Parts: sequence; C-alpha cells; structure tokens
Amino acid sequence: MIKDEKILFSGMQATGNLTLGNYLGALKNWLALAGEYTCFYCVVDLHSITVRQDPAELRKRARNLFALYVAAGLDPEENCIYYQSHVSGHAELAWILNCFTYMGELNRMTQFKDKSAKHADNINAGLFTYPVLMAADILLYQTDVVPVGIDQMQHLELTRDIAQRFNAIYGDVFTIPEAYLGKSGAKIMSLQNPEKKMSKSDENPNASIFLLDDKDTILRKFKRAVTDSEAVIAYRDEQPGIKNLLDIYCACTGKMPEEAVAEFSGKGYGELKSAVGETVADLLAPLQKRHVELLTEKDYIDRMIKENAQKADSYALKTLRKVQKKVGFPERVR
Ligand code: TRP
Repeated sequence: MIKDEKILFSGMQATGNLTLGNYLGALKNWLALAGEYTCFYCVVDLHSITVRQDPAELRKRARNLFALYVAAGLDPEENCIYYQSHVSGHAELAWILNCFTYMGELNRMTQFKDKSAKHADNINAGLFTYPVLMAADILLYQTDVVPVGIDQMQHLELTRDIAQRFNAIYGDVFTIPEAYLGKSGAKIMSLQNPEKKMSKSDENPNASIFLLDDKDTILRKFKRAVTDSEAVIAYRDEQPGIKNLLDIYCACTGKMPEEAVAEFSGKGYGELKSAVGETVADLLAPLQKRHVELLTEKDYIDRMIKENAQKADSYALKTLRKVQKKVGFPERVR
C-alpha cells in the first residue's frame, strides 16, 4: 500500500500494563490508520517520570510496551515505533516551547489538577509542564493527525495554541495537528465500577482486563463484573454494567448495540458475561501468541529499537534545527 505523506503521531505511557480499554480505544484505531499515514508511535518514557518510578520496572515496562505495539500488529519496519528518551529533540523542543506557554494555560489543565491531587507529595515542575512535552512530541514531527482519547483533547488544543502562537511570530514553522477521536462508544469502563474508565493503574486487578491476561483470567474477571439487579439485558445508561459489557462485545465484533441486545434477549447475565469473555479472549489470542514469539526474538526487537530511534531522530532534527534558528540560537559549526 502506498502511504500518504501525511504524518500521524501518537504515544502511550509505559506505566502499568495495557488494558482492553487501551486496545479498543487506542491501539485498534492505530492499526486501522497505520496503512494510511506515515506513523510515529512513541513509548513516552520521559512523561513517565513525572511520577516516581522504579527504574528497573520502568525499563521493563517500556520494552514490554514496545513489544505489545508490535504484537498488536503494528509492523515496526513500516511504522516508526520508538522510545521518546532515545530522541533528545523531544526534551530540547519542550524547553523552547516552555517559553511560549503561559502558566495560566497550564494551570487550567484538568489532568494536572487530577494528578496533583493524586500525588500531593510530589507536585513537581515536570508534572506541570507535561503538556508542553506532549506538544513537543507532536510538533517535532510536523504531525497532521493525532489519535487520542477524549481525556487528552485539552492537551491537543493547547498544542495547537502553542503552534499557532509560535507560527504567528516566526512564520510557518509547525504543522497544526488535528485530533482523531475514533468511534465513540469505544470508551471501556471498569468491570468493578462501570461509572469509571477502565484504567491500567486501577488498584483492583478485577476491574481491568490486561492484554496479556490468559483466557481463564479473562473469563473469571467477566464473571465477576459488576452488573445490577434488573435481570434484563438492555442497552441503557441506567444499567451501566450491562451497557459496558455490550459496548465491549460490540467493539470486539463490530456489531451494533441493537444487534447485540437482540442476540442476548431473554438470556441471563451469566450467559452474557461468558459470551463477552470468550469474545475478548478470542480477540486477544493472536496478539498474545505473537507476544510470546517476540520474547524469543530479542535481536529483532533490539534492531528495531535502534533503527527506529535513528529514523525518528533524523525527522525530529529537521524541525528542531529550524526552530533553533528561528529563535536566534547561533548556527552550529561542524
Ligand atoms: N499524554 C498522553 C496520555 O497520557 C500520552 C502522550 C504523550 C501522547 N505524548 C503524546 C499522546 C503525543 C499523543 C501524542 O495518554
């Protein structure tokens, strides 16, 4: 397939294990878009240290995330999958953009407010300027489209504002990126509290399906999923647990909610839960199989990590050098 010249950029943090929510809400969109754009998929490890991490654990998780991108079907020879920390341009551009971002703007970021409430003992400057680093990620590659979850929209809006502000002063330096929100309905909720998003950092392991959960675990977690006492399978806000199960089923099968409701009409919650569990286990099976294979392909992964870091770096440098020149840094003498 001949790819468009257009650039797609997205990233995920390597904290926690990826969940079914990450897969259905993000990775699946990435797979669908991979053929159309020149894609950069970043393991955003610089962002991860805005909260305390165990170094060995972070390194392990970052590698695991890299392998999961590949296992999910993103070909690392076709798509630039790389670690943010391997391309120093991210941090360099972030510094420059910090000088074009207002305290007031960052103060309004809801993720900052949430995270500082959660990590009250460590409200560091990195947590505050997190969105500027994210803007640097995106703008460094002259990105046209950014697939993001709704919770990242505010950061994307800020990215656009920073880019426009910079361009207004220095001319057309940055491409103004657009968000790609994907299909609605792919927001997967916690199995233990269907009012809350399924999260990699949920303390209750039964709340989330992790991509590497084995079949028995998946079936057991669905069996324990919180529902209600209505005893009727309907797709409505008043039954958030059942609605979530139907949403998951539909996201996996491509069916419409009405179809799913018809299929399960007259059946019990137990049957619905085991059908959804089986569907999810089947969906994840090929990814899990590939992930196991990849564990034995260490040299291949290492080579991809290296080659893609170089590729990303050469793209990033083009923008970075241009920006450095625009703001007035002296030319480099080689
Ligand atoms: N902040 C994003 C999140 O938590 C991750 C991220 C970092 C990102 N840089 C990005 C997403 C650039 C898209 C584009 O989900």
